[in-house]
Amino acid sequence: MRAILIKDGKGPIENLYLGETEKPGPKPGEVLVKVKVFGLNRMDVLQREGKYPLPPGASTILGVEFSGHIAGLGEGVTDWKEGDEVFGLAYGGAYAEFITLPETNVMKKPSHLSWHEAASIPENFLTAFQALVVIAEVKKGDDVLIHAGASGVGVAAIQLARLYGANTVTATASTQDKLDWLLSIPNGATHVVNYKTEDFAAEAKKTTGGKGVDVIIDFVGQSHWQKNIDALAADGRMTMLGLLSGGEVEKFSLGPLLYKRLRIQGSTLRARSPAYQGDLVRKFRDGVLSHITGSAGDGEVRTYIHKTYPWTEIQEAHREMEANKNSGKIIAEVV
Ligand SMILES: NC(=O)c1ccc[n+]([C@@H]2O[C@H](COP(=O)([O-])OP(=O)(O)OC[C@H]3O[C@@H](n4cnc5c(N)ncnc54)[C@H](OP(=O)(O)O)[C@@H]3O)[C@@H](O)[C@H]2O)c1
Repeated sequence: MRAILIKDGKGPIENLYLGETEKPGPKPGEVLVKVKVFGLNRMDVLQREGKYPLPPGASTILGVEFSGHIAGLGEGVTDWKEGDEVFGLAYGGAYAEFITLPETNVMKKPSHLSWHEAASIPENFLTAFQALVVIAEVKKGDDVLIHAGASGVGVAAIQLARLYGANTVTATASTQDKLDWLLSIPNGATHVVNYKTEDFAAEAKKTTGGKGVDVIIDFVGQSHWQKNIDALAADGRMTMLGLLSGGEVEKFSLGPLLYKRLRIQGSTLRARSPAYQGDLVRKFRDGVLSHITGSAGDGEVRTYIHKTYPWTEIQEAHREMEANKNSGKIIAEVV
């Protein structure tokens, strides 16, 4: 089959090429899917550079989300049949004509979603759902702060916070364009902060009448750490999903953790077991999926596609992601 491969196994954007590799076969409990569209994620860049620790047994081909047709069934699979239109969350391997994955990681593609919209959903929305709902236990009336607000995961988290009844949702980003866009979308941010020019902790305190925020979703780590601790209200929860600015902090006081009774939890998605991912997919499918439409739809939650590339232009697509230009998802078509 054809797939996007990496010359020398890892390296710069120029090492990505469309080549030939062996077609995978489904193991017991797995399905084989013929991929139509796949989504790009920040971790693809890290994996391409050799900086992403792959879970055991994961495909070395990039790509963790896709839409397409069921093209084969492993032993014991009874819930799917060949030709079913699906989308799903994979351990890797989506930058290819065919992919195998556990049958429980696949969802039926709703007819109101295009192939492109469906492929743009799994990684961002399942990550945001896990961080915000499962781990931080967001609830009606909470004040929420979402960093990297215009990132794929960020936009999903902002809208999910609104869907779950947040009182305010403050989003941070680096440019006025991104901030304006986050305020303009339905169920977008209620408040925004440019983290490069403003103190987001002070702004979050102002927005919440001095109380602070109940929930933070952070991807940034080092540069945001102290301000995150300052911004959290008593009994605040923070889920840490990335370390975009670095992973070390020099010196900080443990006092606020104790006295504000803070709960801080890191999380990953790709490293989770098939049983965990399958359970998360089921909860998301049953609780959230019906609220999601494309950007032109009328859903309470929408998936926003920044740009679509044919996979023959995968280098351009990675360049766009590395330049941090996207508001929403970058996706690619298998052509
Ligand atoms: N742990 C998990 O389970 C999990 C799962 C999926 C994704 N993630 C993480 O979630 C993050 C977002 O992923 P994505 O695919 O949605 O990314 P994305 O769409 O490529 O967006 C990432 C955004 O992060 C912001 N950013 C980059 N470097 C920054 C820095 N040093 N300080 C502050 N902001 C910075 C940039 O926006 P600005 O212009 O606003 O700075 C950039 O556009 C990544 O860190 C990814 O690794 C974690």
